[in-house]
Amino acid sequence: MTAIHRAFLLVMLCLWGLSACRRAPEIFSAHPTDTLTLTVRSKTPSSETFPAKPTPVYPTPKFPTCQPDPAPAFNPGAYSFMPIRPVSNREGDAPSLRQLAELRRFYVGVSTAPQFLDDPGYAELLAGQFNMLAAENAMKWEVVHPKPERYDFSQGDALVAFARANGMAVYGHALVWDLQQPDWLTRGEYSREEWIQILCRHIKTVVSHYRGYIYAWDVVNEAFQNNGALRDTLWLRKIGPEYIAMAFQWAREADPQTLLIYNEFFAEGLNQKSQAVYSLVQGMLQQGIPIDGVGLQMHVWLWGPPTRHELLANMRRLAELGLLAHITEMDVRTQYSRDSQAEELTVQAEVYRQAFSACLEAPNCNVFVAWGLTDRYSWIPEHTGQPDAPLLFDRQGKPKPAFNALLDMLRRSP
Ligand code: XIL
Repeated sequence: MTAIHRAFLLVMLCLWGLSACRRAPEIFSAHPTDTLTLTVRSKTPSSETFPAKPTPVYPTPKFPTCQPDPAPAFNPGAYSFMPIRPVSNREGDAPSLRQLAELRRFYVGVSTAPQFLDDPGYAELLAGQFNMLAAENAMKWEVVHPKPERYDFSQGDALVAFARANGMAVYGHALVWDLQQPDWLTRGEYSREEWIQILCRHIKTVVSHYRGYIYAWDVVNEAFQNNGALRDTLWLRKIGPEYIAMAFQWAREADPQTLLIYNEFFAEGLNQKSQAVYSLVQGMLQQGIPIDGVGLQMHVWLWGPPTRHELLANMRRLAELGLLAHITEMDVRTQYSRDSQAEELTVQAEVYRQAFSACLEAPNCNVFVAWGLTDRYSWIPEHTGQPDAPLLFDRQGKPKPAFNALLDMLRRSP
């Protein structure tokens, strides 16, 4: 093959995978516990194309900008996490979920928190089966920026350090959201210009701190109501609807490489909310606002989740815009505690399987994250006030039918 052929091939591969191809090699070659030498294959072949983003048709708005607040950059040397050598990577064991995912350059992840990482069983499961972790709360505003002049990155840093020690990618969550904000924000009285500076400095400081370490950032989280109208958030009230585009612009200024995602719930299939999200991101692209994709949270129930067909239709129309579609926070509520209603766990496995299968099939979906590792640590019981078992592993860390369904899909599908 000549150099020209090689260059052409590379360009085609990168066009196919868009930005996803930028960081994949680092992650996939970095995993220190890889013992299987496996050829990296592409995702499920598909006749679909995944076009580049369109050229903007309107002038890009000029937003005010800012400098980040003074804060040290993340220092990986300050942590001493040792790589975990997972059971499933010991000789003779069946390949883990992450190993199978890595064969197709796919990310499987769960959300987590630093306080769980000291539990060896938990850490082994996390790093053994997943090649991505999401910051469940550790990077939210109330944690990283509790006072106007004070940043505290200790929790997020621990997650990033653990991920680095174990060759995992990190999903940053979330820069702009209307919940889990500190009092100084929710009770703050500032002019519009000051609010713009506050938001800009927060985004720039946090994104700069982690620059180069975050695979994708949820830049704006949950900005819509279910009827497709903008949610009445602090940011809408204080700045106006352009806070969304501004946030993406500032995030891009702070890290030119990380993927910038708009993340939403109940907007996975085709409904008023997902239509509103689609129109938002389409409008952003038309104006040249930097955005790389949409996060489909997938907090669903056993009954009536969006069908695979609907999910694929939504993912496809985003692909046609040149955007990624990630599954970012999946859990499937059973509304029963006992880990064990066999029939429910079978239905639950099927719900996970359908979503996973849509993601494997869509050319623009290469991230699948569940919102928690084991049922013991799910946020759902606290949120609903009812016992539940919504995740891939039970309270003891044993794989549930849902986890086996994902493994099975990766083993079987091409
Ligand atoms: C949840 C966390 O899991 C809980 O621990 C916390 O108390 C509240 O937030 N959508 C999101 C996530 O984008 O940030 C939320 O996470 C779950 C719903």
